[in-house]
Amino acid sequence: MGVSTVEVLKGVNLEVGRSEILFLRGASGAGKTTLLYILAGLERPDSGDVLLDFPGQAGGQSLYSLKKRHQAQVRNLQTGYVFQHYCLLPDLTALENVCLPAMMAGGGQRDRATDLLHRVGLSDRLHHRPAELSGGEQQRVAIARSLINDPEILFADEPTGNLDSMTGSGVMETLLEIAGEAKKTLIVVTHDSKLASLGDRQLELADGRIVD
Ligand SMILES: Nc1ncnc2c1ncn2[C@@H]1O[C@H](COP(=O)(O)OP(=O)(O)O)[C@@H](O)[C@H]1O
Ligand SMILES: [Mg+2]
Repeated sequence: MGVSTVEVLKGVNLEVGRSEILFLRGASGAGKTTLLYILAGLERPDSGDVLLDFPGQAGGQSLYSLKKRHQAQVRNLQTGYVFQHYCLLPDLTALENVCLPAMMAGGGQRDRATDLLHRVGLSDRLHHRPAELSGGEQQRVAIARSLINDPEILFADEPTGNLDSMTGSGVMETLLEIAGEAKKTLIVVTHDSKLASLGDRQLELADGRIVD
């Protein structure tokens, strides 16, 4: 039995400005999810690094030189991640799902979670479980969850990929509005070129390389 190595990303070099809204496009298998995972600290690259520049911190902090524990802390406090399939915990209510990253950081934040659910249009769904919510509503819960620890950077991997186009547009609009208001840096993967034109900049990934 042999082990083959697949080279996914090839010499990707990318700088994203504070509060910038960047869309990543590209065909299936181009490496978009892999790039987002690496940027978010979810998957260590075989070579290369991610430098994070936070307010009040001098110089870029090398994400992958940090100790595992500190890396996890940066991930939880400084980044938020929205997945295509929402990834909510099924036994927790909307409010509890949103509170979870705050609880992992040692707090509760029920008031902030309630405010965020209000902001994404779910004031009347606080105590519903994921199975009792539509896809669009579940993704709105996931957006609120990504914001609970007030991170600097938000990542969203095809956040509307599972939704019909009207619902998807509404969800994307909410995500862009919130990121804009709160001056978050936002990196979004989408196949939808109409949605991709709503940000500050677009990049296309093809076969592991940035092509424009
Ligand atoms: N865990 C893995 N092990 C091996 N190959 C992988 C793994 N994850 C992704 N790949 C491969 O890496 C390439 C890029 O995948 P991915 O980043 O998911 O692309 P995209 O999100 O653009 O569809 C694909 O060829 C995929 O098969
Ligand atoms: Mg993907």
